[in-house]
Amino acid sequence: MIKHILFLAFTISAYGSSFAQNSIIPIPVEVKNTQQHFELKSTLTYKVNSKDKELLEYVNNFKTILSKAGIVEGNSENSLQIDLTQNTKNELGKEGYILEIKPQLIKIEANEPAGVFNAFQTIRQLLPAGFEQEGGKKLPVTIAGMTIKDYPRFEWRGLMLDVSRHFFTVEEVKQYLDKMSQYKFNVFHWHLTDDEGWRIEIKSLPKLTEVGAWRVPRHGKFGEDRLPPAPGEKPTEGGFYTQEQIKEVIQYAAERNITIVPEIDFPGHSMAALAAYPELSTKKEPKFVNPGAKFSEWYGNGKFKMLIENTLNPADEKVYDFVDKVFAEVAELFPGEYIHMGGDECYHGFWEEDPEVQKFMKKHKIKDSHELQSYFVKRVAKIIEKKGKKMIGWDEILYGGLADGAAVMSWRGMKGGVEAAKQGHKVVMSPTTFAYLDYTQGDHSVENIIYADLSLEKSYSFEPVPEEVDDKYILGGQANLWTEMVTTMPFAFYMTYPRALAIAESVWSPKSHKNWDSFVTRAITHINRFEAVNDNISKAIYDPIVNVYEEDGKLMCSLNNSIPNTEIYYTINNTYPVKFGIKYEEPFELPVGKYALRAGTYINDKPIGRELIINKTELDQRKGKKKFSVEDLFEE
Ligand code: ACM
Repeated sequence: MIKHILFLAFTISAYGSSFAQNSIIPIPVEVKNTQQHFELKSTLTYKVNSKDKELLEYVNNFKTILSKAGIVEGNSENSLQIDLTQNTKNELGKEGYILEIKPQLIKIEANEPAGVFNAFQTIRQLLPAGFEQEGGKKLPVTIAGMTIKDYPRFEWRGLMLDVSRHFFTVEEVKQYLDKMSQYKFNVFHWHLTDDEGWRIEIKSLPKLTEVGAWRVPRHGKFGEDRLPPAPGEKPTEGGFYTQEQIKEVIQYAAERNITIVPEIDFPGHSMAALAAYPELSTKKEPKFVNPGAKFSEWYGNGKFKMLIENTLNPADEKVYDFVDKVFAEVAELFPGEYIHMGGDECYHGFWEEDPEVQKFMKKHKIKDSHELQSYFVKRVAKIIEKKGKKMIGWDEILYGGLADGAAVMSWRGMKGGVEAAKQGHKVVMSPTTFAYLDYTQGDHSVENIIYADLSLEKSYSFEPVPEEVDDKYILGGQANLWTEMVTTMPFAFYMTYPRALAIAESVWSPKSHKNWDSFVTRAITHINRFEAVNDNISKAIYDPIVNVYEEDGKLMCSLNNSIPNTEIYYTINNTYPVKFGIKYEEPFELPVGKYALRAGTYINDKPIGRELIINKTELDQRKGKKKFSVEDLFEE
């Protein structure tokens, strides 16, 4: 009951004109409320105890944000005081902060500028939804008094965006960065190359973008409905980032405490590179940049065959010269510690068929294609190391042994990460099971269906440190947005949020603080905040969860929600609105007939979310069908 009252309070604030305090995501380490409050008015005195360049940049950006909300710097009884303490030994570390909200004073203490940046993000969340766009209309604003002590659980808190399957402009990438920084993500993994497009200018290899960045325009389901290029058809769709644009994005990210990890996906996923330089494959046949046409067959449990060669030839020295040139420019551009070399889903069939590759393997005493991939990966690791960077790659880079110092991004569940950590490698956990944002987040009748299902609740249960692993090897966690079926930035936001909020809390907050009921009430406040600034976010959590099953020879249906205190109404006689139908109390029989199940969720008698309409034929097909789960993709 208490839970329900609490929920009601949050819900009212989400729909009314006031706003909820303490809906911070990710939830801080410690919040102590006081009976006092701070009144934010149109002027604010800034007191900063340091001239650190990075800090002053963060402070100036925050001033700009507040000025949009009508708060200008000036002599005021109200101050924002920022103290860099440089006491790196304490628990705040590099990114933590202490934030005090008192009458006439907001005070931030942090060891490093990054901590101050994170405190600013917390302050933004304490202000009303849409506040920053209001030009002072909401002033004065009262912020409840409190002291927050906060610091991250993990140093790597990442989001990945695939810009190959769909090209996003610099402005769109900046929107993505801006939003993720508000939830204290600090790594942007930029998936820059794949079969469907090469997106980074490499000056010494101009054809990579002249040819590899462009494909023929196609619509329809990726890998199913799209045709390959017709003879002579011009590739007109795509784009790439010039090195100047890349620098601009790196700077924009740095101003938001985000390090960019660029990914160049080798030796598989290289069809766009091979369209530019087909001589780097075994067959050396001319190729096209794939517009999403089918060129592979998938047999379940991660097994597959490529029908067109999309792998670099690891037995050709020219390939290593090529890789060296690419990483030389990538390393020069990106200031971060890590470069991602991909390494995933590399098909070995063309290597196994090629006599030159076989000769090479004999000469180097390489016993099978896994060892050959390992040979390639180790040489790439050396190339990257020589450029002064560390290498990270998807968990397939573990095949046949991995170079010391290389880190692993575990995506096929957690097992690659466990194995890598046991071998002493650093690990970023990014398992499909919890963190694949391209997967379907709601009922199939109202969502895009792609590969597998992943609900917000499942994402929230992400725990980056498996029991059998020493946590010193786990750098952190990351969620990934693949964009085979994501063709606009608003849609990218829809797929990313709120599941990224669940991941943000899993990688920032103490494990002991995680609680679904608390999270979901806060997430609802954030849905409201997104909508207040016209940013897209999925509201699939409001939709009924429909389960069809057979019991005692009857076709039965249950309707649920993963949020508390909702009511679900439904009809099974083709009538609507469903509110005039039946209030769901318990599983019911789906009778024989020609009709659709209509179901919708209500809070306080108001409809929220979408009304689902699922016809009887579809309901029949769902019977006994296990909901397609990510666990089915790979054997754990
Ligand atoms: C991946 O999802 N192929 C890393």
